[in-house]
Amino acid sequence: MDRIEISKAKGFKGEFSPPPDKSISHRAVIFSSLSKGKSIIKNFLRAEDTISTVNAMRMLGVEITEVSPPTHPSPSRGEGKGGGEISELRTSNSELIINGQGLYGLKEPFDVIDCGNSGTTMRLFSGVLSGNPFFSVLTGDESLRQRPMSRVIIPLRQMGAEIMARFEDRYPPIAIRGRRLKAIKYTMPVASAQVKSAILLAGLYAEGETEVIEPFKSRDHTERMLPAFGAEIEVEDLHIKIKGGTELKGLEIHVPGDFSSAAFFIVAALLVPDSEILIKNVGVNPTRTGLLEALKQMGADIELINMRDISFNSELRTQNSELFFGEPVADLYCKGGKELKAVQVTKEDIPAMIDEFPVLCVAATQAEGVTTIRGAGELRIKESDRIKAMATELRKMGGEVEELEDGMSIRGKGRLRGATVESYRDHRIAMALSIAALIADGKTTINGVSSVNISFPGFFEILRRLSG
Ligand code: S3P
Repeated sequence: MDRIEISKAKGFKGEFSPPPDKSISHRAVIFSSLSKGKSIIKNFLRAEDTISTVNAMRMLGVEITEVSPPTHPSPSRGEGKGGGEISELRTSNSELIINGQGLYGLKEPFDVIDCGNSGTTMRLFSGVLSGNPFFSVLTGDESLRQRPMSRVIIPLRQMGAEIMARFEDRYPPIAIRGRRLKAIKYTMPVASAQVKSAILLAGLYAEGETEVIEPFKSRDHTERMLPAFGAEIEVEDLHIKIKGGTELKGLEIHVPGDFSSAAFFIVAALLVPDSEILIKNVGVNPTRTGLLEALKQMGADIELINMRDISFNSELRTQNSELFFGEPVADLYCKGGKELKAVQVTKEDIPAMIDEFPVLCVAATQAEGVTTIRGAGELRIKESDRIKAMATELRKMGGEVEELEDGMSIRGKGRLRGATVESYRDHRIAMALSIAALIADGKTTINGVSSVNISFPGFFEILRRLSG
């Protein structure tokens, strides 16, 4: 039975490391596969979404070996999603060795590529496949097949790709016949790291220099990692340029812990009385940590300690210290017990906290005053309609929540009560509701919880270990 019962917690204490970063793991696999030679990915996220990326690359003929065998048991989704050789989820991290054959080393796939639930896989692969001289089809699960793809199809077509999709080019499956691409200058209508990365990847195959301009800064993992493999990328605030035709070279990548996974526990520690936790090895890239800023404004006690950098290319850095390609990492110390006050979140704040919206809503239910989150319309087209999902389910728990077209308004300081709630098979909704359950009176039953395996296998084990 795919549900869990969670009771009110008395305390929340201990230390743990979150699973490896999902966005960075996807990119490490894709960039390594397009490089010449061997790459090693240490601390790779072994979850359903990133397994979809590994399996997709395998279907394109890339040799990928998993080195550290899984050790800890954890619930599997049981649908065989992700397929291929590493479909069973026993641990959230492992090590991969990838034997890349270069930009043109991919082979035409023998079947349709299943991206599962992963929007990142589908959108980034659209960029890669647009420049490869063969036919391919990308599909996904029921949720992914309802997510908009015209946002990648429009720019990729401008670059010369032959690319089409269901329902007047809006939704997956996507069919691609790769062509010679030309560079474009593209102003993105929405801030999306997936769209930006799809264009930059296609830009690797294009003749000339491709330029992307973002409306607001979205996560910049591609811009940080791709140059470490040898790509020529220039970043100036919201303008990113990439030169086509540059060969990439295999690399050793160490993936930091995922801030978006840590976020659930940060909020738990702030809300459950008598809490104190240390979350180790968390990626704190400023394009991802908008939630920290919001929580600090709310009065939360969170300390970043042991700040350091993980370098993707230490060799280059030794030659020239200016050449740093990597990610900032820290340990997060969070202590509960502080009174929180409401916060106002606007459109420009959203990209840096796009995946933290569900858990921010939970924090807002316990803050003095009315929290409003606006300019978050993108949340309606994630793995589920996250605005509707959080409004509906928090209301079932007694939350005073008003659903807005582009966000939410939440009156805080109300008591939450246990209820039966739905995850909509969306991993982040399942985890956010689990945190709400820790502070709700009585018992909460959450349906559809195996969806946590999309990004965080082992989530409930850690939750159980930390809550008193
Ligand atoms: C991601 C980008 C974001 C984010 C998603 C991962 C990425 O999506 O919500 O979970 O890895 O590039 P959008 O690009 O749609 O904002």
